[in-house]
Amino acid sequence: MSDLITGLARPQIVGTIICSVLVAIGSALFHQVLTRTPLPSNAPKQWTKNDWPIVGAWRFYKRRRDMYLEAQRSTKTGNFSFYVGKKLIVGLSGSEGKKTFFDNRELSISQGNADLLTGVPAPESTEFYQLFTKILTTLLKTTNLVGVLDHFKADSRRAFDGLIAAPSARPGHEWGVMNPFDFMQRLIYQLTVRATGAREVAEDPKLLESTLRMISEFEGRASHARIYFPWLPTINYMIQMLNGIKMYMIFDKIIKDRKKTGKTVDDPFQRLMDDGLSVQDTVSFEIAALVAGLINSTIHAAYLPIYWATNSKCKARIKEEVDSVIAEFRKSEDQSPADVLDTLSLDQWETEFKFMDLSLRESIRLGQPGTAFRKNITNKNIPIGNTGEVIPPDAYVAYLVDNTGLSEDIYLDPLTFNPRRFEENVTEEMKQPHSYLGWGSGRHICLGMRLAKLEVTMVNAYLVSQFDFELSDEHGNSRSEPPAPINRNLHQFNRPTEPVYLRYRSRESSGSSVQ
Ligand code: HEM
Ligand SMILES: *[C@@H]1O[C@H](CO)[C@@H](O)[C@H](O)[C@H]1NC(C)=O
Ligand SMILES: *[C@@H]1O[C@H](CO)[C@@H](O)[C@H](O)[C@H]1NC(C)=O
Ligand SMILES: *[C@@H]1O[C@H](CO)[C@@H](O)[C@H](O)[C@H]1NC(C)=O
Repeated sequence: MSDLITGLARPQIVGTIICSVLVAIGSALFHQVLTRTPLPSNAPKQWTKNDWPIVGAWRFYKRRRDMYLEAQRSTKTGNFSFYVGKKLIVGLSGSEGKKTFFDNRELSISQGNADLLTGVPAPESTEFYQLFTKILTTLLKTTNLVGVLDHFKADSRRAFDGLIAAPSARPGHEWGVMNPFDFMQRLIYQLTVRATGAREVAEDPKLLESTLRMISEFEGRASHARIYFPWLPTINYMIQMLNGIKMYMIFDKIIKDRKKTGKTVDDPFQRLMDDGLSVQDTVSFEIAALVAGLINSTIHAAYLPIYWATNSKCKARIKEEVDSVIAEFRKSEDQSPADVLDTLSLDQWETEFKFMDLSLRESIRLGQPGTAFRKNITNKNIPIGNTGEVIPPDAYVAYLVDNTGLSEDIYLDPLTFNPRRFEENVTEEMKQPHSYLGWGSGRHICLGMRLAKLEVTMVNAYLVSQFDFELSDEHGNSRSEPPAPINRNLHQFNRPTEPVYLRYRSRESSGSSVQ
């Protein structure tokens, strides 16, 4: 016995024991976080070319489209599997693959996105996601949108009045200069707060600015490392958590203040409070809605005038459209164009601007790099059409949207911005299901589409009605070359890497708003 004790106390033996404990812990950890689910034999064949130990196919997060197209071409069916960290992803293509992706009700969009996209705060649970979509859908119903319409107009008008008041690019220069992405981001964010949030935020410039910064950080501080290693506490993740806490404090204070003073405010936030939503759910809803409502709408709102500025036919047509709507609804000579826009009803905003709508449709078709994601949340294999191949339980599915949006089989000259393609020469292929994925397709259609269209239409109608605009540099010098083509390897549409500016001047001199 004592031999055993003295034996155990000998340093080498202690060392050996510690080592074997560490190895045991290590291998358990390794198993837990790093070992991959083996690929079932009937899953699409693994694409091994870009596969690295532990991290897997890291090229998927570097040059997504390039890797996807190469893998897709190299396999017999066009469907393939790969790992990201320990996550198994099945890439689908072809019409059957697309059908499975967009129509199968057992593939979860919220879990796929939460795990594979970064930035979007992961809906903690499927129940929260259901709550989120239910509230969003209610807030975007006609009665609620009618209730915020006057705020939309007033906010837009104030933002453009600010452009008029801003100093010109150079003393004595007739043009002002703006970064359309900065300008649109602030305005679109304010409108989205109007539609889904609290007046205390929408009407306090400082609070609007600070929450906007936090919301954009949820996107900008996306940490790819956490896709591979979800347990990794990266700095970006910490900042996101911190922003979450700050947002909690802001909204908690608004709730307490309203309760204390007994004041009820006619805004969406009050509706959430009156429905008895918990503070935690209210904050989660606000963050999710503001994040969802920011990026895509901002980028497209800013890209439309850029596209128009680089295409004289399109520019002429959008001017003609906006001017003729104004002429149609003008009630008296002394109304300025903006005065007339101030009087339009929700229905008129939603139906009168056809070319605007086609332009947005085309901007989205062109500006949709990256893949959509789903996850098989059941415990069974999901067959991919009738190929005999399956999506294993817990596996993710990816679909490269460019396979449709830039398909020459569907769209003539797909890289050209041509909004009229949707009203003229419409091909048979464009009428097929899942031939336009800009707002989603099949089981998951964008729930914010109505809000996004209203926002983009309104801000651009106020712009076109009051201003001439051209591409320029930051000093207001005219610029002839269009922005660099969109990097199709991006995971999602974003600002051009090299900044683009618009110079603008009031149209008053052109005589369209005689006082
Ligand atoms: C121009 C702006 C927008 C574009 C181009 C856009 C595009 C899309 C697309 C393509 C999808 C489907 C994704 C997929 O199939 O994986 C989607 C889904 C969704 N969008 Fe949007 N979106 C925009 C604005 C908004 C806004 C403003 C909101 C909310 C405030 C929003 C909320 C959502 C939600 C909640 C879903 C998920 C729907 C579901 O789970 O079935 N979107 N969007
Ligand atoms: C992917 O699999 C589906 C399974 O039905 C098949 O129809 C489709 O053609 C495949 N993709 C390609 C590009 O072959
Ligand atoms: C933004 O657009 C992308 C497609 O480009 C889509 O996958 C994503 O779901 C959209 N986000 C929201 C919140 O609508
Ligand atoms: C439709 O086709 C005609 C003939 O090819 C072409 O000249 C015209 O530009 C096309 N229109 C659109 C909107 O693409």
